Amino acid sequence: MILTGGGDCPGLNAVIRAIVKRAKQEDDWQVIGSMEAFNGVLREPMELMKLNNKTTAGIHVKGGTILKTTNKGNPFDFPIENQDGSVSIIDRSDELIQKIRDIGVEAVISIGGDGSQRISQKLFEKGLNIVGVPKTIDNDLSATDSTFGFRTAVHIATDSFDKLVTTAESHHRVMIMEVMGRDAGWIALNTAIAGGAEVCLIPEIPYDIQKVVDHVNQRYEKGSGFANIVIAEGAKPKDGSVVSRKSDEVGYENIRLGGVAYQLADQLKAAGCKADIREAVLGHTQRGGTPVSFDRVLATLFGVKAFELVLNEQYGQMVSLRNNEITSVSLKEATSGNNFVDKDSFLVHAAKSTGISFGD
Ligand code: F6P
Repeated sequence: MILTGGGDCPGLNAVIRAIVKRAKQEDDWQVIGSMEAFNGVLREPMELMKLNNKTTAGIHVKGGTILKTTNKGNPFDFPIENQDGSVSIIDRSDELIQKIRDIGVEAVISIGGDGSQRISQKLFEKGLNIVGVPKTIDNDLSATDSTFGFRTAVHIATDSFDKLVTTAESHHRVMIMEVMGRDAGWIALNTAIAGGAEVCLIPEIPYDIQKVVDHVNQRYEKGSGFANIVIAEGAKPKDGSVVSRKSDEVGYENIRLGGVAYQLADQLKAAGCKADIREAVLGHTQRGGTPVSFDRVLATLFGVKAFELVLNEQYGQMVSLRNNEITSVSLKEATSGNNFVDKDSFLVHAAKSTGISFGD
């Protein structure tokens, strides 16, 4: 059984297709999908999809996931709506495992981010035969050198950045582009280098607004009449906090980020930026559409490896890319840390060396 959980990510369909194709090479394996993560199993009647060459043909080039997804389906903290409209949170993990066993499922492959892999580890501890496949555009998982979806997000953001440069230049404006990434600055940093930004603000390096304004003003003084800034949604000023709001969606466990570009525009003005400023918040465009070829390849490698872990009964493992090799790590290790930008890394050094200010 395959499922996709958490936010969608370009490359999910390529993983599904690769698992199906690899399984086809063995005798007696049938692959099914649970719709919307584990919700498909928990529903009555169950919502499952037969996965075979016919249902997965050509899907590797499509964004999204044919199995749909949700970040509101944690079986350990499952939201149930009561008759009076109130919501109770209950543990449905035992029921889930029983239902999976009742329909004769040998093993589960869960494709998801850190939240989904934590759920996988807890289900593994309860005896479920499960392996994980990491996915996230944020690239913030420490147990793999890279996740599919990340490069597509950077590609989309860079494409948008290039477009914003020409309009900034025409209007002598400061253009602020906000990208996703949650608490990690990988998308912002890579986009800033690829696009040639003047300023890049990331969560790992809290910024001093005066330094940002000085950098922008100097550029105008030197005669370049425009500036392009990339800011990660999780960036914050020194002594400040991230721009976030609590979600009112039942069962949604994350804090919602987004909107820091507007705060930065106000801060720039207040700190003496004379230029006109415009903001562009890219949002979910970064997760949509066709995966770039690198992500299709990585997703395919992960899918094949995931099925082979199942074949070898190596449960409780998550597939991973390490030093250009496809390998696996325990789900426990996979969920024990995050991958953040190191401010002393060569990537940051290279960005600074090519004139990008981090406001530090
Ligand atoms: O984790 C991936 C991600 O796209 C983050 O970059 C972003 O903060 C979040 O998901 C958005 O989640 P949602 O799709 O629930 O709004």
